Amino acid sequence: MRVSLARALFLEPTLLLLDEPTNHLDLNAVIWLDNYLQTWKKTLLVVSHDQSFLNNICTDIIHLDMKKLFYYKGNFILFKKMYVQKRKELIKEYEQQEKQIREMKSQGMSKEKAERQHSHKALKEQSRKRVQKDEDDEPQELLEKPREYIVKFRFPNPPYLSPPVLGLHDVTFSYAGGKVLLEKVNFGLDMESRVAVVGPNGIGKSTFLNLLKGELSPSKGELRKSPRLRIGKFDQHSGEHLFPDDTPCEYLMKLFNLPYEKSRRQLGMFGLPSYAHTIPIRDLSGGQKARVALAELTLNNPDILILDEPTNNLDIESIDALAEAIKSYQGGVILVSHDERLIRETDCELWALEKKNVRKFNGDFDDYREKLLTSLGEALVHNPSVAADMDDDEYDD
Ligand SMILES: Nc1ncnc2c1ncn2[C@@H]1O[C@H](COP(=O)(O)OP(=O)(O)OP(=O)(O)O)[C@@H](O)[C@H]1O
Ligand SMILES: [Mg+2]
Repeated sequence: MRVSLARALFLEPTLLLLDEPTNHLDLNAVIWLDNYLQTWKKTLLVVSHDQSFLNNICTDIIHLDMKKLFYYKGNFILFKKMYVQKRKELIKEYEQQEKQIREMKSQGMSKEKAERQHSHKALKEQSRKRVQKDEDDEPQELLEKPREYIVKFRFPNPPYLSPPVLGLHDVTFSYAGGKVLLEKVNFGLDMESRVAVVGPNGIGKSTFLNLLKGELSPSKGELRKSPRLRIGKFDQHSGEHLFPDDTPCEYLMKLFNLPYEKSRRQLGMFGLPSYAHTIPIRDLSGGQKARVALAELTLNNPDILILDEPTNNLDIESIDALAEAIKSYQGGVILVSHDERLIRETDCELWALEKKNVRKFNGDFDDYREKLLTSLGEALVHNPSVAADMDDDEYDD
């Protein structure tokens, strides 16, 4: 990913096309890319689900909606505001169209004729308004019902557990035959924790989360946890643990001994469309698998959420829904994410993984961003390998 991105940037093309460029980058690289592209002088066309990234670099938004492209001036925040207004107008127009068709039908006209007639009427109306006709006089298509896409996630609130809830004590870890990734790490979480772990690709963030979950055992030191603790973990490669031949509905039914209806309701709550409840998991998209994984995680009624890159396959609406769900959740949360908005919205403290340890960064996201960019300087513009070390004085011991 980094290599192909580096090559694309190095060539400085007149038109740069980027399809989800932030997906497999770490946060530091996203911060760098975001900063770099803000001064990109040539044309850039980007598809991304990262709202902060879109806000920072885009001057125009093209919205693909109802099989058509709609053009908006301004960044993503502006687009969101304008779209709310436009949607209201679309709903009004659609309701008017439906009312007129109903009236024609009540006068004895067949449904097909009423719809045809309506489209001619709409065309005439449009031609009257147009000062200079520049389009063919083809009958206007009927308006489709504006799509309602609201995503809402909810994590059930756990009972309070007094600290210490979950912690690593003097933990050292290396994979068999591998180098030491973590050394004498002391780290604890409680029910109020909101932690974002940051660090370059391959430094050991997922490994650290797996140690906390108890999926990996420390080479030295120990994991201590409250005896009643339930952990909900979302994997970076979510979906790989799901059984590919089961349908999402069967999968949850078997795992939690759920009745059919409850299983479907749970999947619906996480925005999985109905048709996808009953097809094999192997045929689901990445985003759909992520929804099944979130639905599963929630059914465990976790006290602590461990989320490893949860936004990778989610769309913008679902990332917002995830941030909202985390905000109203009363358990502890630790996440790894390259999504600036998710980290900001959930008020996470930043903890950096570097030099084989995990330490709290003293400052907010903007401080972190500034510190990182200053430490990188301009020299790294053509080298997105941004695993720069930061000064020690920014961290707690
Ligand atoms: N099961 C494994 N066996 C051996 N080595 C592994 C295993 N899993 C990860 N590693 C190695 O451990 C190091 C840390 O991997 P890890 O997945 O924890 O990094 P990460 O910080 O989560 O990276 P990314 O930002 O790409 O997700 C890497 O060098 C990786 O190759
Ligand atoms: Mg990882």
